[in-house]
Amino acid sequence: MNPEQILQTNKRYEIIASSRRQVKVIINKKTYYLSDSIFSILAVTTLPISYNEIIQKLTTLSSSHSHWVQLTTTLNQAINIGLITSPDNSAIVIGTNSANFDSAPVHIRMLNDKTRTLAYQKAIREVVSENDIVVDIGTGTGVLAITAAQAGAKHVYAIEATELGKVAERNFAKNRLNDKITLLEGLSTEIHLPEKASVLVSEIIGNDPLNERIIPTTKDACKRLLKPEARLIPQTLEIYLLPLTVPTKLINKYFFTKRTCSDWKNAYQIDFSELLNTPTSNRLIELGSHKCKDFPTFSEPLLISKIVLSKISNETLSIQGSFKSQIDGVLNGFLIYFNSKLSPHTLLTLHPNESDSRNNWGNSIYVLESAQVLYTNQTVNFTYSFKNNQSSIVITDNA
Ligand SMILES: C[S@@+](CC[C@H](N)C(=O)[O-])C[C@H]1O[C@@H](n2cnc3c(N)ncnc32)[C@H](O)[C@@H]1O
Repeated sequence: MNPEQILQTNKRYEIIASSRRQVKVIINKKTYYLSDSIFSILAVTTLPISYNEIIQKLTTLSSSHSHWVQLTTTLNQAINIGLITSPDNSAIVIGTNSANFDSAPVHIRMLNDKTRTLAYQKAIREVVSENDIVVDIGTGTGVLAITAAQAGAKHVYAIEATELGKVAERNFAKNRLNDKITLLEGLSTEIHLPEKASVLVSEIIGNDPLNERIIPTTKDACKRLLKPEARLIPQTLEIYLLPLTVPTKLINKYFFTKRTCSDWKNAYQIDFSELLNTPTSNRLIELGSHKCKDFPTFSEPLLISKIVLSKISNETLSIQGSFKSQIDGVLNGFLIYFNSKLSPHTLLTLHPNESDSRNNWGNSIYVLESAQVLYTNQTVNFTYSFKNNQSSIVITDNA
């Protein structure tokens, strides 16, 4: 939830005391059971108030940590069932925290990435025709749903998990397409369509290409939301690895290293060496492929997996690869980037030498636990895995 989001009690509810600690809430003809701490929450949300302020007030009201947990859990349940909601559409606030998908900077970056957005528009115009029912998973500002409707689709279902969906809906109306596009709010994996779609459009490719959950989301869409012969945009996603030397300066910015610990020891007279034994949650640096184009590389990019999105079987990947070093040097990382065939005639590439320097993806570099000194013609074997929603690479052997 965006902390600045304005919320208020939905006036159309009925509440009935159920048992000692529970109340029955009927809203939109559905029945839910909530803890009786809902009364304290309703008292706070009679007038429009931001999510952040609600939390502050509940913190003041709570008598203990467990009471606070119960209050905030009930608040989130009340929001999920629509008992507490935005007062009206005009009160939606778009956040500015660039880590969240309901924030302005993320969507500004994507719309400013003309190579990406124009490629998607081209692919949609290539694929969509007038009898098509289109589903756009993760509509964001609505750009791809609007393009599909403009391309002549019979109807478009635009699904969005964040509050931004409501803003997209206003864009549909502004472009006089509200009778052609239906917004469905929520996660695509929890939504049912009134009819199956003949085209899937989605742009849920991450910096670590698979970590916006394109694999499980597309697999679920193929199973539940699409006709058997549906066409997909994108069609394929190819994952590439490029073995390279990440400059020490960059490594020192993201990880605790001997060099920085010794520098701090000199400056502060404190031994920080324990930091070196503290693992970080992942080894990925989100940099952008074009920023790596001057880093020394050990081979051509290695195609590690070609995913045909209409035929996904596994949700996790574990792939053995190898390359022969073309130079002497220190291998300490791999750039992970993608190429995607959006449609039969439209390709989107994030190859470091070919991608637009203004592209919005901060493609990840996987930094190895321990750097390897390599000589020309030396063979390196490695395993790439995508598990627990993130990539990792280990060198298994270099001979
Ligand atoms: C990378 S953005 C793309 C937005 C827009 N389609 C565009 O091209 O500018 C992905 C959007 O998909 C939404 N999203 C991701 N997975 C989703 C899912 N399974 N169901 C609904 N929305 C999803 C995110 O909240 C985000 O707004």
